[in-house]
Amino acid sequence: MKSYVLGAVSGIALIASNVAHAEPQAEVLHYWTSGGEAKSVAVLQEEFAANGGTWTDMPVAGGGGDAAMTALRARVLSGNAPTAVQLKGPAIQEWYEEGVLADISAVAEANNWDAVLPASIAGHMKCEGTWCAAPVNVHRVDWIWANADVLSANGIEMPSTWDEFNAAAAKLQAAGIIPLAHGGQAWQDATVFEAVALGILGADGYRKAFVELDTDTLTSAEMVAVFDQMRLMRGYVDGNFSGRDWNLATAMVMNGEAAFQIMGDWAKGEFIAAGKAPGEDFLCASTPGEGFLYNVDSFAMFDVDGDDKKAGQALLAELVVGQNFQKVFNLNKGSIPARTDVALDEFDSCAILSSDDMNASSEGGSLLPSYAHGMALRGAQSGAITDVVTAHFNSDMSSADAVQMLADAIANSL
Ligand code: BGC
Repeated sequence: MKSYVLGAVSGIALIASNVAHAEPQAEVLHYWTSGGEAKSVAVLQEEFAANGGTWTDMPVAGGGGDAAMTALRARVLSGNAPTAVQLKGPAIQEWYEEGVLADISAVAEANNWDAVLPASIAGHMKCEGTWCAAPVNVHRVDWIWANADVLSANGIEMPSTWDEFNAAAAKLQAAGIIPLAHGGQAWQDATVFEAVALGILGADGYRKAFVELDTDTLTSAEMVAVFDQMRLMRGYVDGNFSGRDWNLATAMVMNGEAAFQIMGDWAKGEFIAAGKAPGEDFLCASTPGEGFLYNVDSFAMFDVDGDDKKAGQALLAELVVGQNFQKVFNLNKGSIPARTDVALDEFDSCAILSSDDMNASSEGGSLLPSYAHGMALRGAQSGAITDVVTAHFNSDMSSADAVQMLADAIANSL
């Protein structure tokens, strides 16, 4: 830690020479407010302070970041953008096109980001060739988490097909256990939906549907089957699911009230923060089917006045891509480092599985951006899909109607 801090200070002295005497300041807008998330962001606050920075926290609670994005828009419209914002995927490009992002290429070049980040991740961080965001991690979305004791007490293995999942759910229901811990919020419905869709459509089908927005795939018999499975999923959640936060759903798995949760590996951050051990207290497996849905958290810096804020942006950008931060933050967050040169020997078996699967799916062409977590599509299109998914989940709409509505919604959003 100590030597890293010294290294960071000298790096900053180099890149921030034009703001040499300014004291780094950063007002940071983020939505990391759950137990595991708060521990993770504290790592950054500590490193920022250890390097002479003053951090002004602007947390906006709300899983998936919808509330944070609303707050961001209000701040930018009033001409008072935060210094740094947790932002990702195509939303970075959307803000860039509005002309409000700062260029952090000097930090990126001084720290060789091109050499230490996979090209697929670097691509999301660049706007017309300049660096406009700094990545902190790779979250995987297509995970099933389970309570180990509940499964063994009921003679259930981690499911590797959706049929096995359905059979396990029926068995659990008969035993009076909630099969699926879920929070009825649109982004959580979308999270389950994209995992089911990847499993049923396969990697190519997922890409056609949620990256290319191909009408034939959106209206295919396989997409009808995806909604059929979603209808079954609706039957596996308890009666109080509406509006529940994702981390409270994770707590239901922890305390054995529910058996499974389908959620990105920020859920692992909750298990770890609660002192639970993977393989003992909880189990992780990818959701049935091939592929890997990635979700890369990153920070974008907004155009702000003042050398102290610019120095804060440079410091923050350098720290978040730094090796030490990428290790410690991700140990807490449940994700894996975005950098390729961080040793994983302190990471657990779920993280190792994530890393192995990410490399294999990258080679096999099934490494895919999460639509539900803003990596695949712009806001208008991803919002249109999620509206249909939620409307279907919360009504008795038929799968055929949902598929038609999906195609119409996409057509209207383009
Ligand atoms: C973010 C995670 C966050 C999760 C729950 C995801 O979209 O990428 O960092 O923990 O939402 O808020």
